[in-house]
Amino acid sequence: MEKIIVRGGRSLSGEVTVSGAKNAVVAIIPAAILVKGTCVIENVPDIEDVRVLVDILDAMGADVCYDRLTSTLKVDCSNVKAETPPAHLVRKMRASYYLIGVLLGRFKRADVALPGGCNFGSRPIDQHIRGFEALGADVTCNEESVTAQAENLSGNSVYLDVVSVGATINIMLAAVLAKGVTTIENVAKEPHIVDLANFLNAMGANVKGAGTDVIKITGVETLSGGTYSIIPDQIEAGTFMVAAAATGGNVLVKNVIPKHMEAVSAKLMEMGADVLEYDTDIRVIGNKDMRSVNIKTLPYPGFPTDMQPQAVALLSVIEGESRVTEGVWDSRFQYIEELKKMGADIEVNGRTAVIKGVSHLVGQTVRATDLRGGAGVVIAGLIASGETVITEIKHIDRGYERLVDKFKGLGADIKRVCE
Ligand code: EPZ
Repeated sequence: MEKIIVRGGRSLSGEVTVSGAKNAVVAIIPAAILVKGTCVIENVPDIEDVRVLVDILDAMGADVCYDRLTSTLKVDCSNVKAETPPAHLVRKMRASYYLIGVLLGRFKRADVALPGGCNFGSRPIDQHIRGFEALGADVTCNEESVTAQAENLSGNSVYLDVVSVGATINIMLAAVLAKGVTTIENVAKEPHIVDLANFLNAMGANVKGAGTDVIKITGVETLSGGTYSIIPDQIEAGTFMVAAAATGGNVLVKNVIPKHMEAVSAKLMEMGADVLEYDTDIRVIGNKDMRSVNIKTLPYPGFPTDMQPQAVALLSVIEGESRVTEGVWDSRFQYIEELKKMGADIEVNGRTAVIKGVSHLVGQTVRATDLRGGAGVVIAGLIASGETVITEIKHIDRGYERLVDKFKGLGADIKRVCE
């Protein structure tokens, strides 16, 4: 079993380059199934979720080649068959549910196992299904899988009852080749939604309004191949920004879109860190006297739920009381038990974590309970005294490219070991 071992106490300094966005690429790779011809996708991060998607497309008959050195994925899905994707791979990740949208869009039929991914309590897909049904599909769902089929898919109006990233993306994917106009209202506005729309449009789709509350998709006959580069990962960038502030460091985070970072930058500044924005880089400088703050996670442009554990790790050593309220998921505080093992004083009341800042954390053996919870305990390890051993790091590997090497490059005493 691989583990991460961190010896805390060093201030991070130097430069780190952010990789391509996980939550964009996990939508864009399945979207290649809708395209006739070769898609060349650049800035693809070397993460476990990408490897699983490559294996899924390969098993379905795609011609797929991922060059890790150049971060470029070439994929031609012309020979993909209308078959069930391998369930054991689909269950390894959440975003495999985008296969339902693309297979329905291309073949008018999809039979896909229910997805896996991080455990945040209930993760329903009712809004995805409502969208598919509005386009004319019959959808049946059991404990194992989802089956959707349609004679024809026709554009329609869909209003989402909850702002859902996954439903927004899945309905877009099913609608790009449908006949007529689909209007999706109350959609998610995350940067990865805009990135998917840009990818689809670059391949010949007609998607308007991504990044606003309403997306309008006019169906086209076919999509053809082309080259597209994935945006930088907003959450990876935020993770380094918080780590810089938490260790009292001075780090230039390179290859970011500063606009995507506004909610995180604003909170770090409120805490007392210096945040300097450049065209495609952000410098974060931590200060000795940081202040406690309150945070509520919200859909974009609010403070991202995927930055909640990293922020709580930082707040755990800031004097005073901070309150962090989870506004997206029912349950996303599993990692807090791990922080408490390291000496953090945190009480969870429903969806709010009340954090009383302690003077220091102490290294311990802790689990990566999920992807971002894992990032949270790595940051805790960087600020703790002594040695922190992080187990179950497969969760971290799903979504961060070379996290340990990147922290090492910033001067952290951190390594992976295999035992
Ligand atoms: C995406 O998950 C991300 N995953 C998550 O990031 C992220 O936390 C989340 O969006 C919110 O930003 C990917 O993009 C692969 P949702 P998703 O549908 O699409 C409820 C990470 O760490 N809901 O926006 O699954 C749902 O229960 C991961 O990178 C319904 O009720 O999230 C939740 O409360 C973890 N019915 C809320 O909406 C539905 O049909 C938002 O979920 C769908 C969702």
